[in-house]
Amino acid sequence: MEALEEDNKVLFLSCADSTNTWLKEQILKQALSCAAVFAGRQTAGRGRHGRHWESPEGGLYLSISFPFENQNFPPIFSCVAAGVAIAGILRREPYTADVFLKWPNDIFAGGRKLCGMLSELVTAPGIAPHVVIGIGLNVNAKVVTADSLYEAVSLFELKGHEFDVRLLAEQIVSEFRREWRNTVEFGTEQLISHWCALSETPGAHVEVLQDENRFAGYCVGVSDAFELIVENENGSRRFSAGDCRTLRQPGVQR
Ligand code: BTN
Repeated sequence: MEALEEDNKVLFLSCADSTNTWLKEQILKQALSCAAVFAGRQTAGRGRHGRHWESPEGGLYLSISFPFENQNFPPIFSCVAAGVAIAGILRREPYTADVFLKWPNDIFAGGRKLCGMLSELVTAPGIAPHVVIGIGLNVNAKVVTADSLYEAVSLFELKGHEFDVRLLAEQIVSEFRREWRNTVEFGTEQLISHWCALSETPGAHVEVLQDENRFAGYCVGVSDAFELIVENENGSRRFSAGDCRTLRQPGVQR
């Protein structure tokens, strides 16, 4: 198997159906293991919960893979690490965007969705389990289509000019790998505290959507297992999956 980890190389494709699907196929063929692939556009981009991900030219569509074995924490932490890495990059020069992480793995700016992540576990007989994290970031789009849940925004809309998408992809891969190595070495506690420092979810009034169910309350934080802890007059609940809206005022979604 070819490993591309050492120098954080990114494989650039002009178009893919979905970079996650493409990378999963390479892992199953044992052609790649630690790899990163970028596509200029996607014809069948996939979002969380089976949703479609609009993927026109000018966006960042990136998937990163690595073996995931013998960890004492679940794969969701790969998206936590990616979120921390990406938010850190976007807050610094030359992007200087006022971004926040939103549970479980979105990045928002000004109440609109800038970036989403989809992590998938690849398992097959005779192959080491791998995680593939897919990152969709609205970079140079002049107008971004909202997904079914959230209004969307691009870096172009936030900053008024275009950015080098490929350079950003390389920065994300290298920063993610650094964050992930730290997590594997030092554990998830420090990662969760970095995530909370970059997030608006703890301390906010939120509404959690799980299938057809909704639960509104005050978010007191996230657990060691990265569950969202929400309290209201009926008690406290922990969510390990779902979507979450930050409620600023009744009826306004973030
Ligand atoms: C979400 O629903 O918020 C997650 C969106 C993830 C989209 C990215 S784009 C790169 C990778 N390839 C896909 O098909 N999906 C992910």
